Amino acid sequence: MKKLLFTLLLLAATATFAQRADYRIIPLPGSIETDTPQCFTLRSGMGISFDATNPEIARNAAFLQQWVQELTGLQLALTPDDPKAAIRLSLSLDASTKTKKTKRAKKGLQPEELTPQQQEAYAITVTASGIQLQARQPVGLFRAAQTLRKALPVTDGAAGGIELPFVKLADQPRFDYRGTHLDCSRHFFTVDFIQRYLDVLAMHGCNQFHWHLTDNDGWRFEVKALPDLAEKGQWRDQSPLRRAGLWDGTPYGGRYTQEECRELVRYAAERYINIIPEIDIPAHIASALKVYPDLRCPVQGEWGVDQVLCAGNPKTLPLLKTIFGELCDVFPSRYIHIGGDECPKGGWRKCPKCQAKIQELSLQDDGHHAPENQLQTWMNRQIGQFLAERGRDIIGWDEILEGGLTDGGLVMSWRGVKGGIEAARQHHRVIMTPTDNCYFDYYQLRDHDRQPPAIGYYLPLTRVYAFEPLEGIPEEEQQYILGAQANLWTEFVAYPQHVFYMLLPRLDALSEVQWCRPDQKDFEDFRTRLSRLQRTYDRLGINYCHDIE
Ligand code: ACM
Ligand code: ZN
Repeated sequence: MKKLLFTLLLLAATATFAQRADYRIIPLPGSIETDTPQCFTLRSGMGISFDATNPEIARNAAFLQQWVQELTGLQLALTPDDPKAAIRLSLSLDASTKTKKTKRAKKGLQPEELTPQQQEAYAITVTASGIQLQARQPVGLFRAAQTLRKALPVTDGAAGGIELPFVKLADQPRFDYRGTHLDCSRHFFTVDFIQRYLDVLAMHGCNQFHWHLTDNDGWRFEVKALPDLAEKGQWRDQSPLRRAGLWDGTPYGGRYTQEECRELVRYAAERYINIIPEIDIPAHIASALKVYPDLRCPVQGEWGVDQVLCAGNPKTLPLLKTIFGELCDVFPSRYIHIGGDECPKGGWRKCPKCQAKIQELSLQDDGHHAPENQLQTWMNRQIGQFLAERGRDIIGWDEILEGGLTDGGLVMSWRGVKGGIEAARQHHRVIMTPTDNCYFDYYQLRDHDRQPPAIGYYLPLTRVYAFEPLEGIPEEEQQYILGAQANLWTEFVAYPQHVFYMLLPRLDALSEVQWCRPDQKDFEDFRTRLSRLQRTYDRLGINYCHDIE
């Protein structure tokens, strides 16, 4: 009885007294100045003000209203153009940092010359008059609103309001490219789930979603001019149950219509995420070769991974241009990923058509690049040029370096950082995604029995956190490293909750690699902040791995 009374009293106390926000979130903001014990108390009924003529800012205000409600139960009102509102969003960052503005003017820099990271910058100031979110662009206000969201305590009893310590907080990301990938070929994930996935990416400050749409195990992108490609290419006869060679005997399929893809592009853009679609060529394409068997070079082995698209068949390039043309119609992304990984050259060596093409192009071993590697580069150039005419740049896995890199191509360095270092040396843009630090399909705990089956290997949280994308890059070449990305392959990941289990908390760690200055990083401090953020995951029903290694 006594215990019950005590619990009731405690509940009453938490419901009545304000709970406090904490700005030490993930990823950690660049600077947080809190030099007084004073707080502003946010209560239900208070308002969020914004420029009513700017629908983008209005949308960000509505996001914030929803997030505050979800985490604290406080009901805030949207009160456009109200200078007395408790929370005020405005594009006034430079107006309030006059000295910096003067410095920029002295250097002759115009606002449009801001780096992409400066365009995402924001500030949060909390004083007795309320909470001011300032930025240069609406994207900065979105980042500010996410920071405020993550600073909030998760509670059901905010009747006494939420105390926000007075603060001057300023922040901007370290890298321009902050990506996360998802393989939707090995397993198919619904549009609704991908929206949840994008929400989690946005919460971590990611601005690029690399969508792996095709592979041996299923073609997921609808091409209207080639209806069979997705209709038939999406299916496989069965899926492996375990690594030990057990199969489930059940046909498996799924594909995205172009309308669904467009809807996701729109959804992502509202969260300041660009979707980079990947059509993997010339290998990892058995799903299409099943539909167009005459485009397959002689097969090397029985595994799809040995199948390769014929580079010498005159029908190949027109087919690829149809596919990439429709891909460009649907995805506005400046970057289009053309894959290029793990292309076995045995098929090309045996294929009379490919060998005739090598002769026609006079490709010869130059001591560095075998003719078949140069043939892959030739194909990349054809597609690269086709995409360049549409204002796009290609990204390829680091194998695209092997036959000589295509002009303007970006390299995604996955087999370690060697490829990235070499590409930067050649002044090509690079995204770092080495298996050792960024492959979230690997086990995250040593004891495999405590986790669902995974592809193998071991990538603990600590090793993700320790990653430094610029290590080994000479200073003058660091500008070519655009950023880093996590890759989540799904051979063994079939369900949404499993996706989040593999993603979190490793994306929490990577978000500090992508966002924070290296001198801000401290794993023990990160752990403390992580346990707070996990209360938000619990509230939102987002799964994560609870153990940390
Ligand atoms: C890859 O993991 N094959 C890029
Ligand atoms: Zn061939």
